[in-house]
Amino acid sequence: METNVVYAIQRKIKEKMKVLAIVLGLILSFSLPAGAGNYSLSAHGDAANGVKRNVTELSSYVQGNCAHCHEQHASINGAEPTPSGGAPSGFCLFADNFNTTNTTGSYLQSDDFCFYCHTSLNSLQSGGITNYDYSTTFGGATASVTGILDAFNQTSFHNLYDVYNFAKNNFSSFFTASSNPCVACHNPHLARRNKANPTDPSYTAISRPTAHSQLWGDDSGERMSDYTTNYQAPYYYNSTSTYEPGNTATYNGSNMPDYDTFCTDCHNSTNTIYSTTLGRNLYKIDWVTAGGESGGDKHGQNSATTSLNIKDPFATSPLGISIGFVLSCLDCHEPHGSPNVMLIRREVNGGDLAGNITAFDTVYWSYLCGRCHKDDSYYGGYAGKFEYIHHLDPDDAPYPGPPSRCGWCHGGGGGGGKPPIPCNRCHFHGGNDSCLLDSSNLPYYPSLYTGRRCF
Ligand code: HEC
Ligand code: HEC
Ligand code: HEC
Ligand code: HEC
Ligand code: HEC
Ligand code: HEC
Ligand code: HEC
Ligand code: HEC
Repeated sequence: METNVVYAIQRKIKEKMKVLAIVLGLILSFSLPAGAGNYSLSAHGDAANGVKRNVTELSSYVQGNCAHCHEQHASINGAEPTPSGGAPSGFCLFADNFNTTNTTGSYLQSDDFCFYCHTSLNSLQSGGITNYDYSTTFGGATASVTGILDAFNQTSFHNLYDVYNFAKNNFSSFFTASSNPCVACHNPHLARRNKANPTDPSYTAISRPTAHSQLWGDDSGERMSDYTTNYQAPYYYNSTSTYEPGNTATYNGSNMPDYDTFCTDCHNSTNTIYSTTLGRNLYKIDWVTAGGESGGDKHGQNSATTSLNIKDPFATSPLGISIGFVLSCLDCHEPHGSPNVMLIRREVNGGDLAGNITAFDTVYWSYLCGRCHKDDSYYGGYAGKFEYIHHLDPDDAPYPGPPSRCGWCHGGGGGGGKPPIPCNRCHFHGGNDSCLLDSSNLPYYPSLYTGRRCF
């Protein structure tokens, strides 16, 4: 008897969903005629490559039909297509949009609606979907992960609960308590297949959280070359003549979305962003303020202040500049997750990092820096070491000499050699070498403090 009651309630709820679904359809068809057109241009609405849930109940619905995501016809044929069961989901989606109780990550398919299709295992999409990471799709690196769920289940990732929370509190015009964190960066009704057209940003997959109802990167004015005329695209994988994002000769970012404006919708110098993963607020990122040592990030619009020890393509940039470069966030970061801490790409500027960076307080940041900056091997020393830049470069070494009392910075450790110092003590977004003033930790050497902006 009890189960009968449950079934009755479920039937009632499904009836309500049907009504809701019709209303939903009406809203879109009446209030968004233009949106409907754009939907058919989108990756999901695409008649040849779009959504197609591999379930018998929906077999008569054409590829791209809304019903492959919105359960408008749950009761047709008297059955509910996979995944079935559970309470009805918000927005009439075929599964719950997002599991807000998973605050720490390590995601299951059921934690996020999108993962039902965007995964390498058990995708409900007919024929499955392959999504590589940014390093492969736009950098050309050998493939590692092949699904979005897989990308998020790596050493570091955008914590979906934190993104959800931040978006709910800051972008409430479109992001509600029942919204999906992926939707903070993507509009599922508009996102296009950039992966199939990597050199054509009119196929962009992203929408700015401050402009959710349109795509970002598709129009002129929305490209890296619009953000700055000083963008030098990194080399494409294993190439010394072609560039990201599509292995072509275009080098100024005119063929990629302006990722700096995109990421700084959230990561700017005013927003306070909490990270459950890191257990603290994130460093604020100032990508725009000029002013040298007192300005913003030197990889951003603030210019480097001294002569660089930089590799190609920067050293002989076809832009015709030798300093003042502005980088894209995605030159160094993945958008979803990575085998390194801090979403650092596994492949940068045409080559793989020498190894994974698995801790924050470490000397192995050199794997990343060394993809673009010259290590000691360019100056008669060892690969992977950075003594020249800090001690020997006659132009601009911050600690020329090397200075005496090596241990004040390098610490002890017998056996000759000077143990390298964890790079992040000085090098991070917004950082300088003020750790030299702090007696609670090495390096401690107040008289050698330079105050130079170290990122
Ligand atoms: C912080 C912003 C952000 C969040 C959150 C985010 N993405 Fe992305 N996503 C991006 C960016 C940036 C790209 C790469 C740029 C591009 O393709 O133009 C991307 C690319 C993609 C792609 C294309 C991958 C390919 O094959 O090239 C898919 C699919 C995707 N995201 C799905 C998702 C899903 C599903 C979620 C949630 C689980 C999600 N994204 C969360 C920013 C985000
Ligand atoms: C890839 C799956 C997918 C497809 C296909 C899809 N939608 Fe959606 N739709 C969503 C998701 C996810 C949301 C919830 C957005 C959020 O998290 O805030 C949504 C929300 C909506 C909403 C609520 C308003 C809004 O935009 O947030 C309407 C209306 C809607 N969809 C209608 C449609 C119609 C009509 C179609 C077909 C023309 C369609 N959808 C196709 C996934 C999809
Ligand atoms: C019913 C299956 C299904 C669901 C659910 C689904 N997608 Fe997709 N998605 C697809 C398919 C199919 C494509 C096109 C695949 C291809 O190009 O190989 C696609 C493509 C995309 C792209 C464009 C990627 C590119 O090629 O550059 C983005 C972005 C994206 N999806 C995001 C999302 C987000 C965010 C959600 C959840 C709100 C979601 N998808 C839910 C099936 C789905
Ligand atoms: C030259 C490579 C590089 C570029 C370009 C870059 N980053 Fe980073 N980013 C790093 C490194 C290295 C770290 C780890 C050190 C740190 O935490 O600052 C990091 C860390 C971060 C963090 C975590 C900060 C924290 O609290 O520890 C965020 C957020 C971030 N980056 C966002 C961005 C955004 C947004 C952009 C573009 C506006 C960007 N990054 C451009 C290298 C880069
Ligand atoms: C919708 C807002 C939003 C956008 C857009 C966004 N982020 Fe984030 N980001 C967050 C939140 C919230 C966190 C804190 C959660 C976390 O640490 O994962 C975060 C954390 C990070 C971290 C630290 C991750 C860690 O825990 O190790 C990095 C690095 C980062 N973002 C880079 C980027 C880059 C690069 C972009 C552009 C492609 C971007 N973000 C766009 C909201 C956003
Ligand atoms: C994708 C290439 C790339 C990577 C990776 C990279 N950098 Fe840079 N870096 C540059 C470029 C290009 C400049 C010059 C910026 C300018 O001209 O304003 C620069 C400038 C700098 C400066 C300013 C130097 C000065 O003279 O003012 C510092 C410090 C720096 N980088 C440190 C690092 C560290 C530390 C790492 C590793 C954690 C790193 N960079 C990783 C490309 C990169
Ligand atoms: C003000 C702090 C400071 C002092 C004092 C200092 N160094 Fe350094 N040294 C650095 C920094 C910063 C680096 C670059 C990070 C790294 O590689 O440890 C470096 C790098 C090196 C390296 C390369 C380390 C490696 O294995 O990659 C050697 C060798 C070195 N220093 C030797 C010395 C010697 C010898 C002395 C004393 C005569 C000395 N340093 C004093 C800050 C200092
Ligand atoms: C004690 C602080 C400190 C530590 C620790 C440190 N650096 Fe530096 N580093 C600096 C300063 C200061 C500069 C000069 C910035 C400038 O030119 O304005 C610099 C410059 C650099 C540059 C830019 C060089 C150029 O001219 O192109 C790179 C790359 C770099 N460091 C890598 C590293 C690496 C890798 C480590 C760790 C193995 C490290 N640093 C550790 C203080 C430090």
